[in-house]
Amino acid sequence: MLWQRIARPLLFLLPAEKAHYFSMGMFKAIFALGLGSLFRLRNRAKEPGLKTNVFGIDFENPVGLAAGFDKDARWFPQLASLGFSHVEIGTITGEAQPGNPQPRLFRLPADRAIVNRMGFNNSGSDAVARRLSVTPKADSTDILGINIGKTKVVPVEDATQDYLVSFERLFVYADYFTVNVSSPNTPGLRTLQNREPLIELLSKLIKLNGDLALDHECSPKPILLKIAPDVTEEQLSDIILILREVDLDGVIATNTTIERAGLETSEQDVNAIGNGGLSGAPLTIRSREVVGKLYDQLKGDIPIVGVGGVMQGEDAWQMIRSGADLVQLYTGFIYGGPGTVRQINRYIAKKLKQNGFETVAEAVGSGRGGAGDAK
Ligand SMILES: Cc1cc2nc3c(=O)[nH]c(=O)nc-3n(C[C@H](O)[C@H](O)[C@H](O)COP(=O)(O)O)c2cc1C
Repeated sequence: MLWQRIARPLLFLLPAEKAHYFSMGMFKAIFALGLGSLFRLRNRAKEPGLKTNVFGIDFENPVGLAAGFDKDARWFPQLASLGFSHVEIGTITGEAQPGNPQPRLFRLPADRAIVNRMGFNNSGSDAVARRLSVTPKADSTDILGINIGKTKVVPVEDATQDYLVSFERLFVYADYFTVNVSSPNTPGLRTLQNREPLIELLSKLIKLNGDLALDHECSPKPILLKIAPDVTEEQLSDIILILREVDLDGVIATNTTIERAGLETSEQDVNAIGNGGLSGAPLTIRSREVVGKLYDQLKGDIPIVGVGGVMQGEDAWQMIRSGADLVQLYTGFIYGGPGTVRQINRYIAKKLKQNGFETVAEAVGSGRGGAGDAK
């Protein structure tokens, strides 16, 4: 209520990127006053059925913060206290880069959507590794995902090396890694979703993962691939084959879309914004469809993280029913505010109970013709 009526309207008076840094600055200040544990206490999901183990990791609940919100690992301990079981930082690139010129972040309130062309603004994997080395998690149950991508000035042919450098620098800090080949804002990046480059990239990362695990006497880190909602049927089939071929740990579907069809915002306003990835409510159905298709093919062998247009509990629930083991959100958090994660987790717990499921894992894919919920 406070968010919808007061905080959000005030923040939406500021340009979107300023509002982002301002609100996180305020949030961090609240924590510095020692109020963090109150947030954690209020937002922690208490229903035991929400706990879930995916790719060998225990998650307190199935809801995480999608990449792009905390690109530089500045706020992840505080963000986890809002009820997210995991926070995915990044995208982090091999070299520091400023991203695209501003303005590059736009709200479309009529559509509960965002368009961004940030372009992986971040301080590079070396600086982020140093920050992580002095930034402890707020709680040992918090899961930190690290999303890596390609530096803009590095040619696509040399992309693998750029990913490998970041992977090695960040290895010890990650609970899992996400390989981002699906942002629309780095020229050529999405061609890495094609068969040959994708196999080369993933195989080399998996090899390095094994080597680093031996060096550090730990298990290899789960590696996930994040894909676009705009992939063709053929690309999606290829990706599914590759996921199986290299035996990847998981897939995240989806990133933002370059589609603009069916928006409430006027065509003139949409055109004035220009290029970028669209996220939020207009993506709900498309991302869910991609998750469903992945689930039908992967049949639970490879876990799926569903992201895209999760604005409220019902969207998260439908994502799980379509086959997502975990869900993530970004735009839903901007529109719904700090109480969103708690509400979503409560809703999932309620639906689990209503449909006779004891755990989230039991409900995964239940809307794809399997047993369970028919609602
Ligand atoms: C401003 C903004 C920046 C983003 N930056 C990244 C990024 O750096 N890496 C990435 O993998 N996804 C990034 N995303 C995509 C989100 O992680 C997510 O996949 C997408 O927005 C769909 O989810 P949503 O509808 O809940 O926002 C970004 C999204 C937004 C809105």
